[in-house]
Formats: sequence, structure tokens, C-alpha cells
Amino acid sequence: MHPDLESILFTKEQLQTRIKELARTIEKDYEAGEEVVMICILRGASVFFCDLVRELNLDVRFEFMSVSSYGSGTTSSGEVRIIKDINLPLCGKNVIIVEDIIDSGNTLAYLKRLLSQRSPKSLRICALLDKPSRRKAEIEGDYTGFTVEDQFLVGYGLDYAEKYRNLQEIGVLKREIYM
Ligand code: IMP
Ligand code: MG
Repeated sequence: MHPDLESILFTKEQLQTRIKELARTIEKDYEAGEEVVMICILRGASVFFCDLVRELNLDVRFEFMSVSSYGSGTTSSGEVRIIKDINLPLCGKNVIIVEDIIDSGNTLAYLKRLLSQRSPKSLRICALLDKPSRRKAEIEGDYTGFTVEDQFLVGYGLDYAEKYRNLQEIGVLKREIYM
């Protein structure tokens, strides 16, 4: 275990098992041959995205978007800014936004509002983690991997100050690292 972690919450195996289940659930919602535009929200969702898309037996297309929810440390400020948008027009398309975690919900609430204005055929949210106790915006994931407590998590794409994204498991960061 990485020395900055207090404990491991989800192992590599637990993550892979859950991702397989998520993929089976997602597949049921689309017809064979229908294209699904998967939008990866950089950078946190990148690792999850790569594992999820490879599990999906669907006609998928990759898109990448980068957003920043102003603020540093372990909380977001609520002000969302688009750093990199997609070029693909979404009109009439099936779209799934892939995110690492729904915390306050500000990022996804903003993104959902923005992308729904582009008239997609369907627009859903897939988030690996959900921290409902921290919610400020009214938003739910259509597909969620795990519901978690209010703890600061790192690994498997999740960072603290851009570190720990490459850990294979998701762990609880020691408080002394960010306090
Ligand atoms: P929200 O807008 O508050 O829902 O924040 C979403 C973003 O905050 C996520 O995409 C993450 O980048 C970040 N975030 C929230 N909780 C955690 C955590 O426990 N560890 C690492 N990043 C987190
Ligand atoms: Mg993020």
C-alpha cells in the first residue's frame, strides 16, 4: 500500500468486477447497432473510462472534455469552467458522460445542463463513485459504481494535487497529507 494511504477502499479486483457489472447494465439500455458517444471528463475519469469502454459490447465513440471546478485542495468552489470542449455535434446522439466521482454535484449539474442544450437523443451520467452526503446540486448518476462516505479518496484516476492518479486501487488519503 502507498505510504500516504490510510486504508484501501476498493482493490483492483473489486473495481474490475464492478465495472463489468456496470457495462452489462449500460448495454441493456441501448439497441444493438446504436452508436453511443462516451465523453470522458479529464483527468479524473481517464482510468475508469479506459476500463469501462473496453468492457462495453456497444458501438462506442470516444470524446474527451476537460473541466475545472475552480478551487484547490479537497473541495470545489461551485464555479465550473470548460477547459476543453468536444468538437462533435451531439444533436440526435446517445451520450454518456463518464466521471470519476459525484461530490457536490456542481460539475455534473453544469455539464448536464450544457450538453442537453445540444439536443442529444439521450444523455446519461456514469460515475464510478458517489458521495451523496456532500451533494449541493440536484443531480444523480444514471449508472454509479459505488456509494462512498465523506472521505477524501485517491487512486485509479483520482488525485490530490495531481498525485496518486496511477495507483491501481482506490484508497483513503491520510488526513495529515492535506490538512
Ligand atoms: P463536484 O463538482 O463537487 O461533484 O466535484 C467533482 C470533482 O471533484 C471530481 O471530478 C473530482 O475531481 C473531485 N473530487 C471530489 N471528491 C474527490 C475525492 O474524494 N478525491 C479526489 N477527487 C475528488
Ligand atoms: Mg475530476
